[in-house]
Amino acid sequence: MANTILIGAQWGDEGKGKIIDVLTADADIVVRSQGGNNAGHTVFHRGKKYVLHLIPSGILRRRKVCVIGNGVVVDPVALVDEIEDLRASGVTIDCNLLISDAAHLVLPYHAALDEQRELRKGRARIGTTKRGIGPAYGDKAARTGLRVSDLMQPALFSKKLAAKMRENNAILRALGAKPNDFAEVNERYLRAGKVLAPFVANTVVYLHRQMQRGRDILFEGAQGTFLDIDHGTYPYVTSSNTTAGGACTGTGVPPHRMDRVVGVMKAYTTRVGEGPLPSEDERVAGMLHEMGREFGATTGRARRCGWFDAVATHYATMINGIDELAITNLDGLDSVHPISVCVAYRLNGQRLEVPPCDSAQWENCEPIYEEFRGWNEPTGRARKFSDLPKNARVYLETIAEMTGAKLTMVSVGPTRAETIVL
Ligand code: IMP
Repeated sequence: MANTILIGAQWGDEGKGKIIDVLTADADIVVRSQGGNNAGHTVFHRGKKYVLHLIPSGILRRRKVCVIGNGVVVDPVALVDEIEDLRASGVTIDCNLLISDAAHLVLPYHAALDEQRELRKGRARIGTTKRGIGPAYGDKAARTGLRVSDLMQPALFSKKLAAKMRENNAILRALGAKPNDFAEVNERYLRAGKVLAPFVANTVVYLHRQMQRGRDILFEGAQGTFLDIDHGTYPYVTSSNTTAGGACTGTGVPPHRMDRVVGVMKAYTTRVGEGPLPSEDERVAGMLHEMGREFGATTGRARRCGWFDAVATHYATMINGIDELAITNLDGLDSVHPISVCVAYRLNGQRLEVPPCDSAQWENCEPIYEEFRGWNEPTGRARKFSDLPKNARVYLETIAEMTGAKLTMVSVGPTRAETIVL
């Protein structure tokens, strides 16, 4: 399979967990390179549903090694909880998990600051997951963060933590929020550090050694292209590079070792949190929510929903260098007719083929739609492309062509079996 980057081509929640699970069959190692436990990758394995937040989805398959790369922000307590939950469900976690010593830590003051900043923004809030992701990456960029390697040295960790907590408790007090107790946090995080110690490694060296041995790596992207800190709907974004480049910086695997980029997108569009979504449509949201679909895997929030936005996905193909497309949730449109697709935007009387940089302008873009005939029959049992109704095939081929990459996979249901490989 060679080295494959899998990324979300929309606003996250594209169904990456399921596609990663399918691709993992051909990979030796699965790596996360960015984000933290703001992610929620849903995988159905042996009839059971798992939602993975920090641990790569490959963990459910026994012989795959999972790596949490240097670009991920790790909440050690949340990671220990995730390990324990998975073990309680019968998943083996031992030498199949590695954590980069260079990954930055998410600490309780990050989550507290995330919450306070959101509260203070009022209607201008980002709608974050409140997991402390933005403040943790903020510390990393400001060069004041604590890393996994610090946690592995208890005396050093406590010293650095005490200094950071003095500073952050002063900020929290000034904001009228409750400060955190140093002794409690120190004790709790050192305890988590002890549990994690056997998994900590220089993952750059590990990955390079494995590549020398010809092992295939799958880079599991989290969130989606338009939540990228550089290319997304700033400031309504997450704080990492969710696009393909992040797979290199977040793991230490150089660009020329990457062989292909698979983009995952839904047959329609969703987003959680605030920010532009030009093709948002109340009817699409109402229909999907009524079907019990489109509630967040991490926060349980109802996702905003709309028609497929080809302006956005075409731009995503450009940024990520997407070679192959996996289109998910086709079955969500089974009873919809007609189906609209946003093919361009109109802003101040002008037709736009690429999104504007400014979020306020992006928000004001009016979608220009093209209509497609629905197929009005269930697609969940299709296992070959030719099993799909003709109108569904036309729809898929057209949105892939508009996006500008080759369609190689279609998902018609949550389980591994409900997948069409072209
Ligand atoms: P943060 O990453 O918690 O700071 O949230 C920033 C924005 O990214 C918010 O709009 C979140 O809803 C969104 N977001 C973060 N993680 C995910 C994800 O895994 N799926 C979808 N949206 C996400």
